[in-house]
This record gives sequence, structure tokens and C-alpha cells, in this order.
Amino acid sequence: MTIKKIILASHNKGKIKEISELLQPYRIEVVSAVELNLPDVEETGTTFEENARLKAVELAKISGEFCLADDSGLCVDALGGRPGVYSARYAPERDFDKGIDKLLAELKATHSENKNAHFSCVIALAHPHTLNCQTFEGRVDGILVDEKRGENGFGYDPIFVPNEGNHRTFAEMSNEEKSKISHRGRALAQFIRSLQEWNK
Ligand code: IMP
Repeated sequence: MTIKKIILASHNKGKIKEISELLQPYRIEVVSAVELNLPDVEETGTTFEENARLKAVELAKISGEFCLADDSGLCVDALGGRPGVYSARYAPERDFDKGIDKLLAELKATHSENKNAHFSCVIALAHPHTLNCQTFEGRVDGILVDEKRGENGFGYDPIFVPNEGNHRTFAEMSNEEKSKISHRGRALAQFIRSLQEWNK
């Protein structure tokens, strides 16, 4: 199997940027669903894996190309793992400034000392003909801080301090630094290892 072109099943600019940058050195044409006017597939699954699979398969069916989808989210211990798979929908009007405020208010209301959280990511690659899917997982553990810090990244990055981040939030890191330790970077690193085997 040789893969020369991949459609990214995402309409999230932050994700598209991170994934495209990481795949750039591998001589694969990466085109996003936005550029091709492909639909934003509804996430009806209850797990990251289910959602990643359904997005990748749906767009592979429509486009006839290899499709890569990422489903990811922030799981907060004191909130029983929420917002988790609902992280995008948790933010009012998908405005993450508001989403962060809502999350911090909810966390404060628990009166919990536990600020532990993790980001999870499942990446699925769907084959255009068989529609078979292969999945890759990544996770990063850290804590939430109660004030937004930094301008980079997207989503909940300004309040997430990864354990390996020298006390900086993801939004205070460059994309390159974030990807070395992030859930998405880790899932993609596994995908890239498989890709190198396939494309040998
Ligand atoms: P979905 O995978 O399209 O359902 O969206 C996942 C949501 O989780 C994003 O919209 C963000 O709110 C959040 N998220 C996922 N990955 C990251 C990340 O790397 N940084 C910050 N927020 C993230």
C-alpha cells in the first residue's frame, strides 16, 4: 500500500494546521475537507475512537481518497472525565474563550483540589475502497490552571499545563514544542511509523 494523498476530515483550523505541519516532511499531499467543500461529519459516537472512525470512513466514501480523522478532547478528573468527547460542543457557540470560562466556573463549583486533566486523541485512517480503518491513540496528562495564559494553539490550550511542559500552558509553546508531547503529536507519531512501513 502506498499513500500519496490524504484528506483531513476536519473543519477545525487548529487541528488542520498541527496535522498538516507534522505530515509535511513525508511527501504526501494533505488536503483538508474544508478546501474540498466536504461536509463536517456529525459526531454521533460516544467514544473518541467511534467518532474518529465514522468521520474518516464517511469522507473516504465521499471522496474516494485515503481519509484521516482526529477525534480529541479534554477530560477533567474532577468533572468525571467531562467534557471528553463533547469538548467542542461544550463551548457556547464554539467560542473557546467562553468554553474555558464555563469549564473554570464548573471546576470551581466542585470545590475540588484536584486539577488533573488529560487530552486524548484517536486518529483514524480509512481506506478509500475497503473502508477499513486503522486507529492510533495518544494522550497527554497535565493540570488545569485557573487563568488563561498564552496566545498560540487553540481550544483549551491556554489553561492546560502538561506535566512535561516546564509549567507552561500549551498556548505558551510553539506548535513544534506542543506536538512533541501532545496527544495529537503522539497519535500522529504512531501513524507516521505505520505510513513509513506502508510507503517503503
Ligand atoms: P472534535 O475532535 O472535533 O470533537 O473537537 C475536539 C475539541 O477538543 C476541540 O474543538 C477542542 O476544543 C478540544 N481539543 C482537542 N485537541 C485540543 C488541543 O490540542 N488543544 C486544545 N483543545 C483541544
